[in-house]
Amino acid sequence: MHDDKKIIVALDYDNIDSALKFIESIDPSLCRIKIGKELFTKYGPNIINCIHERGFEIFLDLKFHDIPTTVYKACVSAFSLNIWMLNIHLSGGYDMASSAMKAKKDCQSDSKLIGVTALTSLSDNDCIKIYGCKRLEQLKRLRDIGLDANIDGFVCSPHDINTLEANTKIFVTPGIRIKNNAHDHYKVLTPVEALQLGSTYLVIGRSITESLNPSEELKGIYQSL
Ligand code: C5P
Repeated sequence: MHDDKKIIVALDYDNIDSALKFIESIDPSLCRIKIGKELFTKYGPNIINCIHERGFEIFLDLKFHDIPTTVYKACVSAFSLNIWMLNIHLSGGYDMASSAMKAKKDCQSDSKLIGVTALTSLSDNDCIKIYGCKRLEQLKRLRDIGLDANIDGFVCSPHDINTLEANTKIFVTPGIRIKNNAHDHYKVLTPVEALQLGSTYLVIGRSITESLNPSEELKGIYQSL
């Protein structure tokens, strides 16, 4: 899947003023914006409208996980906001993932619906405790649920792309670093390394939002590719 606009900036601010100040400093031709639980819980669709008005496409990162009917209704609400991308937890199972896809169809939405596989924060031990199998096995199980429900792609570590063996799908990958600061990520990769492993879109937060010149930082990443 080819798309030159490969960067999704994670807008992880706790207030709308800081978020919009950052938005004013960058150009929508360079990136899309990820809105997560923190801003959406506080400001709701208003934050989506404010960012749409400034010309950006939005990935609404709410990682829905509930009974199929509830997820169907939540997805219908989300798609009505004209977002570019939405995600669900694949550990909600096949019926839940299919319900999310049905919502997309019923809304005649062009949004991309992607599934979170095993969270990158989960270790083998965590997966054994939660799912009764190691992380790799759990990744494959969730991949199969996503493929059966025909979702558009996966959120995963770039290291997991090969294991997922789904090369027609979109891969959205966090844990990207430009300089030598891993923050709270266990493993980090540069944009070039992540793309070489098969990432379609790179989710980058603090490396851009904490930069003194976010616009130059974005342009520098594209030059490095
Ligand atoms: O600042 P940083 O680049 O680490 O931001 C990463 C973003 O990616 C955060 O918004 C975080 O919630 C998100 N993330 C994710 N899935 C993961 C790991 C991080 O969506 N497995």
